[in-house]
Amino acid sequence: MKVTIVGAGAVGASCAEYIAIKDFASEVVILDIKEGFAEGKAMDLMQTASLNGFDTKITGVTNDYSKTAGSDVAVITSGIPRKPGMTREELIGINAGIVKSVASSLIEHSPNVIIMVVSNPMDTMTYLVHKTTDLPKNRIIGMGGALDSARFKYRLAEALDAPISDIDGMVIGGHSDTGMVPLTAHATRNSIKVSEFISEERLNQVAEDTKVGGATLTKLLGTSAWYAPGAAVSAMVQAIACDQKKMFPCSTFLEGEYGLEDICIGVPVLLGKNGIEKVVNIELTEAEKAKMQESAAGVRKTNDLLDL
Ligand code: 2OP
Repeated sequence: MKVTIVGAGAVGASCAEYIAIKDFASEVVILDIKEGFAEGKAMDLMQTASLNGFDTKITGVTNDYSKTAGSDVAVITSGIPRKPGMTREELIGINAGIVKSVASSLIEHSPNVIIMVVSNPMDTMTYLVHKTTDLPKNRIIGMGGALDSARFKYRLAEALDAPISDIDGMVIGGHSDTGMVPLTAHATRNSIKVSEFISEERLNQVAEDTKVGGATLTKLLGTSAWYAPGAAVSAMVQAIACDQKKMFPCSTFLEGEYGLEDICIGVPVLLGKNGIEKVVNIELTEAEKAKMQESAAGVRKTNDLLDL
Protein backbone atom coordinates (compact mmCIF):
# COMPACT_ATOMS: atom_id res chain seq x y z
CA MET A 1 0.00 0.00 0.00
CA LYS A 2 1.21 3.51 -0.85
CA VAL A 3 0.26 6.32 1.52
CA THR A 4 0.86 10.02 0.92
CA ILE A 5 0.98 12.48 3.80
CA VAL A 6 0.61 16.09 2.71
CA GLY A 7 2.20 18.38 5.27
CA ALA A 8 5.50 17.50 6.97
CA GLY A 9 4.69 19.42 10.12
CA ALA A 10 4.36 17.76 13.52
CA VAL A 11 1.00 16.14 12.72
CA GLY A 12 2.04 14.88 9.29
CA ALA A 13 5.35 13.54 10.54
CA SER A 14 3.59 11.74 13.41
CA CYS A 15 1.16 10.19 10.91
CA ALA A 16 4.13 8.96 8.85
CA GLU A 17 6.00 7.68 11.91
CA TYR A 18 3.09 5.68 13.34
CA ILE A 19 2.11 4.28 9.95
CA ALA A 20 5.71 3.18 9.37
CA ILE A 21 6.04 1.60 12.83
CA LYS A 22 2.83 -0.41 12.24
CA ASP A 23 4.57 -1.62 9.06
CA PHE A 24 1.44 -2.35 6.97
CA ALA A 25 2.33 0.06 4.14
CA SER A 26 5.05 -0.56 1.56
CA GLU A 27 5.62 3.14 0.99
CA VAL A 28 4.90 6.48 2.66
CA VAL A 29 5.52 9.70 0.73
CA ILE A 30 5.63 12.92 2.74
CA LEU A 31 5.04 16.10 0.71
CA ASP A 32 5.53 19.68 1.85
CA ILE A 33 5.89 23.05 0.12
CA LYS A 34 8.89 24.08 2.25
CA GLU A 35 12.09 23.22 0.36
CA GLY A 36 13.79 20.13 1.80
CA PHE A 37 11.53 19.91 4.86
CA ALA A 38 9.69 16.73 3.86
CA GLU A 39 12.94 15.20 2.62
CA GLY A 40 14.56 15.87 5.98
CA LYS A 41 11.65 14.46 7.98
CA ALA A 42 11.59 11.34 5.77
CA MET A 43 15.33 10.79 6.11
CA ASP A 44 15.22 11.23 9.89
CA LEU A 45 12.32 8.77 10.11
CA MET A 46 14.07 6.25 7.84
CA GLN A 47 17.05 6.37 10.18
CA THR A 48 14.78 4.95 12.89
CA ALA A 49 13.83 1.94 10.70
CA SER A 50 16.53 -0.40 11.99
CA LEU A 51 15.80 0.66 15.58
CA ASN A 52 11.98 0.59 15.37
CA GLY A 53 11.95 -2.47 13.14
CA PHE A 54 9.96 -1.46 10.08
CA ASP A 55 10.49 -1.97 6.33
CA THR A 56 8.10 0.72 5.16
CA LYS A 57 9.95 3.02 2.77
CA ILE A 58 9.47 6.69 3.65
CA THR A 59 10.45 9.35 1.13
CA GLY A 60 10.03 13.11 1.15
CA VAL A 61 9.30 15.48 -1.70
CA THR A 62 8.99 19.22 -2.10
CA ASN A 63 5.73 20.10 -3.80
CA ASP A 64 6.05 17.50 -6.59
CA TYR A 65 2.77 15.61 -6.73
CA SER A 66 4.04 13.27 -9.44
CA LYS A 67 5.90 11.49 -6.65
CA THR A 68 2.54 10.78 -4.95
CA ALA A 69 1.19 8.99 -8.04
CA GLY A 70 -0.64 5.75 -7.37
CA SER A 71 -1.35 6.49 -3.72
CA ASP A 72 -4.04 4.30 -2.14
CA VAL A 73 -4.60 6.72 0.72
CA ALA A 74 -3.64 10.38 1.01
CA VAL A 75 -3.79 12.24 4.32
CA ILE A 76 -4.20 16.03 4.17
CA THR A 77 -2.62 17.67 7.21
CA SER A 78 -1.45 20.82 5.39
CA GLY A 79 -2.57 24.28 6.44
CA ILE A 80 -2.01 26.33 9.56
CA PRO A 81 -2.62 24.91 13.02
CA ARG A 82 -4.41 27.01 15.62
CA LYS A 83 -2.68 29.15 18.24
CA PRO A 84 -3.77 29.28 21.89
CA GLY A 85 -7.20 30.89 22.22
CA MET A 86 -8.16 30.29 18.57
CA THR A 87 -11.03 28.10 17.46
CA ARG A 88 -10.53 25.57 14.65
CA GLU A 89 -13.12 27.50 12.64
CA GLU A 90 -10.90 30.59 12.53
CA LEU A 91 -8.47 28.70 10.28
CA ILE A 92 -10.94 28.42 7.40
CA GLY A 93 -9.76 31.53 5.53
CA ILE A 94 -6.30 30.12 4.86
CA ASN A 95 -6.86 26.38 5.05
CA ALA A 96 -9.80 26.15 2.63
CA GLY A 97 -7.70 27.27 -0.34
CA ILE A 98 -4.86 24.93 0.63
CA VAL A 99 -7.08 21.87 1.11
CA LYS A 100 -8.97 22.45 -2.16
CA SER A 101 -5.74 22.75 -4.14
CA VAL A 102 -4.07 19.80 -2.40
CA ALA A 103 -7.07 17.51 -2.98
CA SER A 104 -7.13 18.39 -6.67
CA SER A 105 -3.39 17.70 -7.07
CA LEU A 106 -3.64 14.40 -5.24
CA ILE A 107 -6.53 13.15 -7.36
CA GLU A 108 -4.81 14.22 -10.59
CA HIS A 109 -2.01 11.73 -9.84
CA SER A 110 -4.02 9.12 -7.94
CA PRO A 111 -7.57 8.95 -9.36
CA ASN A 112 -8.46 5.99 -7.13
CA VAL A 113 -7.18 7.57 -3.94
CA ILE A 114 -8.97 7.60 -0.59
CA ILE A 115 -8.56 11.06 0.93
CA MET A 116 -8.37 11.51 4.70
CA VAL A 117 -8.81 15.09 5.90
CA VAL A 118 -7.11 16.27 9.10
CA SER A 119 -6.75 20.01 8.37
CA ASN A 120 -9.10 22.22 10.37
CA PRO A 121 -11.87 23.13 10.55
CA MET A 122 -11.96 19.44 9.70
CA ASP A 123 -15.69 18.78 9.11
CA THR A 124 -15.90 21.80 6.80
CA MET A 125 -12.67 20.86 5.01
CA THR A 126 -14.09 17.35 4.47
CA TYR A 127 -17.27 18.91 3.07
CA LEU A 128 -15.12 21.14 0.83
CA VAL A 129 -13.33 18.10 -0.64
CA HIS A 130 -16.71 16.45 -1.21
CA LYS A 131 -18.10 19.52 -2.97
CA THR A 132 -15.04 20.34 -5.09
CA THR A 133 -13.95 16.89 -6.29
CA ASP A 134 -15.65 13.95 -8.01
CA LEU A 135 -14.49 11.42 -5.43
CA PRO A 136 -17.34 9.17 -4.22
CA LYS A 137 -18.34 9.87 -0.62
CA ASN A 138 -16.89 6.56 0.64
CA ARG A 139 -13.43 7.78 -0.39
CA ILE A 140 -13.54 11.06 1.55
CA ILE A 141 -12.95 10.58 5.28
CA GLY A 142 -12.61 13.25 7.95
CA MET A 143 -10.41 12.38 10.94
CA GLY A 144 -11.66 13.90 14.18
CA GLY A 145 -13.87 11.45 16.06
CA ALA A 146 -11.13 8.84 16.44
CA LEU A 147 -8.94 11.48 18.10
CA ASP A 148 -11.78 12.85 20.24
CA SER A 149 -12.76 9.33 21.32
CA ALA A 150 -9.16 8.64 22.36
CA ARG A 151 -9.25 11.79 24.50
CA PHE A 152 -12.65 10.74 25.90
CA LYS A 153 -11.22 7.35 26.91
CA TYR A 154 -8.20 9.07 28.46
CA ARG A 155 -10.47 11.31 30.58
CA LEU A 156 -12.73 8.36 31.52
CA ALA A 157 -9.74 6.25 32.61
CA GLU A 158 -8.53 9.21 34.66
CA ALA A 159 -11.95 9.63 36.32
CA LEU A 160 -12.33 5.90 37.03
CA ASP A 161 -8.66 5.46 37.94
CA ALA A 162 -8.76 2.56 35.50
CA PRO A 163 -6.38 1.28 32.79
CA ILE A 164 -7.37 2.72 29.43
CA SER A 165 -7.63 -0.82 28.02
CA ASP A 166 -10.65 -1.33 30.32
CA ILE A 167 -12.46 1.66 28.81
CA ASP A 168 -14.64 1.96 25.72
CA GLY A 169 -16.28 5.14 24.53
CA MET A 170 -17.04 7.12 21.40
CA VAL A 171 -17.37 10.78 20.46
CA ILE A 172 -19.56 11.75 17.48
CA GLY A 173 -20.66 15.10 16.09
CA GLY A 174 -18.53 18.02 14.95
CA HIS A 175 -14.80 18.15 15.68
CA SER A 176 -15.09 21.47 17.47
CA ASP A 177 -14.70 22.75 21.04
CA THR A 178 -18.48 23.09 21.36
CA GLY A 179 -19.88 20.58 18.87
CA MET A 180 -18.50 17.26 20.04
CA VAL A 181 -21.00 14.71 21.40
CA PRO A 182 -19.24 12.32 23.82
CA LEU A 183 -21.62 9.36 24.17
CA THR A 184 -21.52 9.26 27.94
CA ALA A 185 -24.59 7.01 28.16
CA HIS A 186 -22.84 4.34 26.08
CA ALA A 187 -19.35 4.48 27.64
CA THR A 188 -18.28 1.36 29.50
CA ARG A 189 -15.61 -0.18 31.68
CA ASN A 190 -15.40 -3.86 30.75
CA SER A 191 -18.99 -3.74 29.35
CA ILE A 192 -20.32 -2.10 32.52
CA LYS A 193 -21.70 1.43 32.07
CA VAL A 194 -19.29 3.97 33.49
CA SER A 195 -22.23 5.62 35.29
CA GLU A 196 -21.98 2.65 37.69
CA PHE A 197 -18.58 3.93 38.78
CA ILE A 198 -18.72 7.74 38.74
CA SER A 199 -21.35 10.39 39.44
CA GLU A 200 -23.32 12.14 36.69
CA GLU A 201 -21.56 15.36 37.65
CA ARG A 202 -18.12 13.76 37.20
CA LEU A 203 -19.19 12.17 33.93
CA ASN A 204 -20.38 15.53 32.64
CA GLN A 205 -17.00 17.01 33.55
CA VAL A 206 -15.31 14.21 31.58
CA ALA A 207 -17.45 15.15 28.58
CA GLU A 208 -16.60 18.85 28.92
CA ASP A 209 -12.88 18.13 29.30
CA THR A 210 -13.07 15.92 26.21
CA LYS A 211 -14.67 18.66 24.11
CA VAL A 212 -11.81 21.07 24.81
CA GLY A 213 -9.14 18.39 24.65
CA GLY A 214 -7.53 19.98 21.62
CA ALA A 215 -7.69 23.52 23.00
CA THR A 216 -6.24 22.35 26.33
CA LEU A 217 -3.19 20.98 24.53
CA THR A 218 -2.86 24.03 22.25
CA LYS A 219 -2.71 26.21 25.37
CA LEU A 220 0.03 23.98 26.87
CA LEU A 221 1.99 23.47 23.64
CA GLY A 222 1.49 26.81 21.89
CA THR A 223 0.27 24.92 18.83
CA SER A 224 -2.03 22.00 17.95
CA ALA A 225 -1.30 18.55 19.30
CA TRP A 226 0.39 15.99 17.04
CA TYR A 227 0.98 12.62 18.74
CA ALA A 228 -2.66 11.63 19.24
CA PRO A 229 -3.79 13.03 15.87
CA GLY A 230 -0.99 11.02 14.22
CA ALA A 231 -1.93 7.88 16.12
CA ALA A 232 -5.60 8.28 15.18
CA VAL A 233 -4.74 8.68 11.50
CA SER A 234 -2.46 5.64 11.56
CA ALA A 235 -5.17 3.43 13.11
CA MET A 236 -7.69 4.54 10.48
CA VAL A 237 -5.24 4.06 7.57
CA GLN A 238 -4.38 0.61 8.92
CA ALA A 239 -8.10 -0.32 8.98
CA ILE A 240 -8.28 0.64 5.29
CA ALA A 241 -5.00 -1.03 4.34
CA CYS A 242 -5.91 -4.28 6.09
CA ASP A 243 -9.62 -4.15 5.18
CA GLN A 244 -10.50 -4.50 8.85
CA LYS A 245 -14.12 -3.21 8.68
CA LYS A 246 -13.20 -1.51 11.96
CA MET A 247 -15.55 0.99 13.57
CA PHE A 248 -14.44 4.58 14.01
CA PRO A 249 -16.40 7.82 14.35
CA CYS A 250 -15.44 9.68 11.16
CA SER A 251 -16.64 12.79 9.42
CA THR A 252 -18.52 11.64 6.35
CA PHE A 253 -21.08 13.07 3.92
CA LEU A 254 -24.58 12.27 5.22
CA GLU A 255 -27.67 11.80 3.12
CA GLY A 256 -30.33 11.39 5.80
CA GLU A 257 -28.49 9.28 8.34
CA TYR A 258 -28.97 10.57 11.89
CA GLY A 259 -31.61 12.92 10.44
CA LEU A 260 -28.90 14.94 8.68
CA GLU A 261 -28.10 15.62 5.03
CA ASP A 262 -25.74 17.71 2.92
CA ILE A 263 -23.20 17.85 5.74
CA CYS A 264 -19.96 16.12 6.77
CA ILE A 265 -19.96 15.34 10.49
CA GLY A 266 -18.71 12.61 12.82
CA VAL A 267 -20.77 9.42 12.93
CA PRO A 268 -19.82 5.76 13.50
CA VAL A 269 -18.60 4.11 10.29
CA LEU A 270 -16.83 0.90 9.32
CA LEU A 271 -13.47 1.47 7.63
CA GLY A 272 -12.16 -1.08 5.12
CA LYS A 273 -10.48 -1.34 1.72
CA ASN A 274 -13.18 0.86 0.14
CA GLY A 275 -12.73 3.56 2.74
CA ILE A 276 -16.08 4.11 4.42
CA GLU A 277 -17.75 0.72 3.98
CA LYS A 278 -20.94 1.77 5.75
CA VAL A 279 -22.42 4.28 8.16
CA VAL A 280 -23.48 2.53 11.37
CA ASN A 281 -26.80 3.71 12.80
CA ILE A 282 -26.84 3.51 16.60
CA GLU A 283 -29.76 4.34 18.88
CA LEU A 284 -29.07 7.73 20.47
CA THR A 285 -30.78 9.05 23.57
CA GLU A 286 -33.09 12.02 23.03
CA ALA A 287 -30.43 14.23 24.62
CA GLU A 288 -27.78 12.87 22.25
CA LYS A 289 -30.05 13.39 19.23
CA ALA A 290 -30.59 17.00 20.27
CA LYS A 291 -26.84 17.52 20.72
CA MET A 292 -26.19 16.09 17.25
CA GLN A 293 -28.66 18.52 15.68
CA GLU A 294 -27.04 21.39 17.60
CA SER A 295 -23.60 20.23 16.53
CA ALA A 296 -24.72 20.05 12.90
CA ALA A 297 -26.00 23.61 13.08
CA GLY A 298 -22.53 24.70 14.16
CA VAL A 299 -20.84 22.82 11.32
CA ARG A 300 -23.29 24.28 8.78
CA LYS A 301 -22.48 27.77 10.05
CA THR A 302 -18.82 27.16 9.24
CA ASN A 303 -19.68 25.51 5.91
CA ASP A 304 -21.55 28.70 4.97
CA LEU A 305 -18.21 30.56 5.11
CA LEU A 306 -16.94 28.48 2.18
CA ASP A 307 -16.80 30.09 -1.24
CA LEU A 308 -18.25 27.14 -3.15
C1 2OP B 1 -6.85 18.46 17.59
O1 2OP B 1 -7.95 18.44 18.11
C2 2OP B 1 -5.55 19.16 15.61
O2 2OP B 1 -7.95 19.27 15.64
C3 2OP B 1 -6.80 18.58 16.10
O3 2OP B 1 -5.78 18.35 18.22
